[in-house]
Amino acid sequence: MQIYLDTASIEEIKKAAATGLLNGVTTNPTLIMKEGRDFKTEISEIVKILKAHTDDFTVSAEVNSTEWKDMVKEGLEYAKWDKHIIIKVPMTQDGLIAVQEFKRRKIRTNVTLCFSPNQALLAAKAGAFIISPFVGRIDDAGASGMDLIGQIKQIYENYGYETKVLVASVRTPTHVRDAALIGADIATIPYKVFEQLFSHPLTDKGIAQFQADTAAYHQKLR
Ligand code: G3P
Repeated sequence: MQIYLDTASIEEIKKAAATGLLNGVTTNPTLIMKEGRDFKTEISEIVKILKAHTDDFTVSAEVNSTEWKDMVKEGLEYAKWDKHIIIKVPMTQDGLIAVQEFKRRKIRTNVTLCFSPNQALLAAKAGAFIISPFVGRIDDAGASGMDLIGQIKQIYENYGYETKVLVASVRTPTHVRDAALIGADIATIPYKVFEQLFSHPLTDKGIAQFQADTAAYHQKLR
C-alpha cells in the first residue's frame, strides 16, 4: 500500500520523506490556508522535497472552482508546474466533466469528497486516476468509512476499473491497518498518525531490555 502524507506542512513532509517511505502528498484548501503561503510556492516546495527522495510520487493540488471550464483552466495551470502534480477535483457533475477533459490531455486527477459507492463508480467511469473516500468524516457521521472502502474495491474489481482507491480523512493507525487489510491502493495520513505507525510499547520495552542486558554484560567483564 502506498502511503501519502495529508498535509501542506513543509516541516512534516521533510521529516516523513526522510524515512524513504513516503509515496506522495495530498493537500486541500484547508491545509494550504493553514500554512499561509502562496499556493504555487507551497506546492512547488512540496514537489522539490519529494523529488530529492524518489521520482515515483504524486502531489495533489486541489482546484477551487465549481464550474468545469474554470476547474480545467485552474488545473491546466497547476499541471504545468511539474509532472508529479495531479489535479484534485470535487465529486460533482462539473468535477467529473473536468476529469474527462483532463484525461483527454493525459493529466491525472484525484476525485475528492467521495462519500458513496455510486460516486466512486461515476468517478471511475469518468477516468479518475484516484478516488478519495473520506473514512473519518463518514465515521463522524455515525456510519462505517471502511465499509465504503470495501464496497468501492468490490465495484472496481467487478468491472476492472483502474482508478486507485485512496483512503482519506484518516484519523488513527487502525484506519491505516484496515485500509491495508482491505487492499486499498493508498492511504493518505496526517503526520501524527504516520509517526504512530512506527511505534509499539513492546518494541520500546524490548530495546530497553536488550540495551540493559548488553550494558550489564560489559559491566561484568570489567
Ligand atoms: O485531504 C482530505 C481529507 O483527508 C481531509 O481529512 O480529517 O479533514 O476529514 P479530514
